[in-house]
Amino acid sequence: MTNSETKATLSFSDGSPSLEMPIYKGSIGPDVIDIRKLYGSTGMFTYDPGFMSTAACNSSITYIDGDKGELLYRGYPIEQLAVNGGDFLETCYLLLNGELPNAAEKANFVSTVTRHTMVHEQMQFFFRGFRRDAHPMSVLVGTVGALASFYHDSLDINDERHREVSAIRLIAKMPTLVAMAYKYSIGQPFVYPRNDLSYSANFMHMMFSTPCEEYKVNEVLVRALDRILILHADHEQNASTSTVRLAGSSGANPFACIAAGIACLWGPAHGGANEAALSMLEEIGSVDNIPEFIAQVKDKNSGVKLMGFGHRVYKNYDPRAKLMRETCYEVLNELGLQDDPLFKLAMELERIALEDEYFVSRKLYPNVDFYSGIVQRALGIPTALFTGIFALARTVGWISQWKEMISDPEQKIGRPRQLFVGSPRRDVPAMDKR
Ligand code: SDX
Repeated sequence: MTNSETKATLSFSDGSPSLEMPIYKGSIGPDVIDIRKLYGSTGMFTYDPGFMSTAACNSSITYIDGDKGELLYRGYPIEQLAVNGGDFLETCYLLLNGELPNAAEKANFVSTVTRHTMVHEQMQFFFRGFRRDAHPMSVLVGTVGALASFYHDSLDINDERHREVSAIRLIAKMPTLVAMAYKYSIGQPFVYPRNDLSYSANFMHMMFSTPCEEYKVNEVLVRALDRILILHADHEQNASTSTVRLAGSSGANPFACIAAGIACLWGPAHGGANEAALSMLEEIGSVDNIPEFIAQVKDKNSGVKLMGFGHRVYKNYDPRAKLMRETCYEVLNELGLQDDPLFKLAMELERIALEDEYFVSRKLYPNVDFYSGIVQRALGIPTALFTGIFALARTVGWISQWKEMISDPEQKIGRPRQLFVGSPRRDVPAMDKR
């Protein structure tokens, strides 16, 4: 972050003294105006609901160019990492440490993560408190938060070693907890992780194997899942990452912070959109119904949105959506489902929307959630678990951002202010005067 030559000057039409504020330049992307002295100098706050024009931190992890539709993890384009790069754990190492691992570093990292995939044997008893049909995200919020009660040896956030160990534990145990949530929901026994399988193969094994027969890993499907995880790994200061940072700014332990991130991701406007997008496609049912559905979306009173479309930052095609659509092809072809009606419906819906002025004028394009439900469904993942998979993948992004925040000398507890529009001071009237 460097000071730019130019400064921002805030002047007031009522003749109040103007205020000069420094402008900082990043390595790429928009500059920022440092407004930290604004309240002290003017007694006024900025007003920015939804943080449309607010940078809450400086970061070197993920960069998005919304106009170009570009996504970089530590400078590397998502297309290279997801298609001809290494696997998800290689991306995890990159996000956590800032550089891609060499062969020895990767082998050590994989071995460390692999040996942390089991959860404490008592964790299974938390599941019994949930109804079998509990939404997996409610189970994950509860069980991930409960991890804090087992790891008192790594809760000192000011100890770098504790931060490292907690990061590894969370990355390693999320697949185990997500798979346990699934097994619990279908009444099958939990499956322990296996150290001889890769991260994504291990997850598929914990999800779909049973004690009754040998589970055969399909490498094409494993590679597809691995790519899905890479595509969801991090995404700058999105709502759930900002939640993790805000929770972490109070000094809360990393397990509590990630549980808070999971809770935020659950919302249909955020990570819950993949589940909502698939339900939307099933509700539309056939290509013939698309025009009527599009008309509903355009009718503001309907409250209907085209789920999996639109984005706060991308005003162009979400690069992850393109890669997700390619993954759809691969998986459906591998499974002989080339004619999957839902995939054809999704592509026709995308084609129609991208030719429609309503969507074009609002720069609404497919986002990561539009196709992810179709490919996850083809992998055998139930719709209710789609956002759990998103949380599994995003855990590395959350914990990387949390680590960056904790070690940022500028970080303080996050405490936004408000524009108060309620009642001025008044006295409490006696009951007979109300
Ligand atoms: C994720 O932030 C991230 O990076 C998130 C994420 C990540 O990796 O962490 O990328 C993951 O959350 C992707 C987004 C998933 N959500 C959805 O697909 C839900 C549907 N999308 C919308 O809810 C919406 O697009 C948001 C929430 C994603 C973005 O909303 P904004 O930036 O606040 O934009 P907006 O709601 O102000 O919309 C601008 C206009 C409005 O119309 P007008 O008032 O100008 O007439 O576009 C319309 C909106 O009504 N609009 C949509 C729409 N999205 C926006 N209209 C129909 N369908 C949609 N999907």
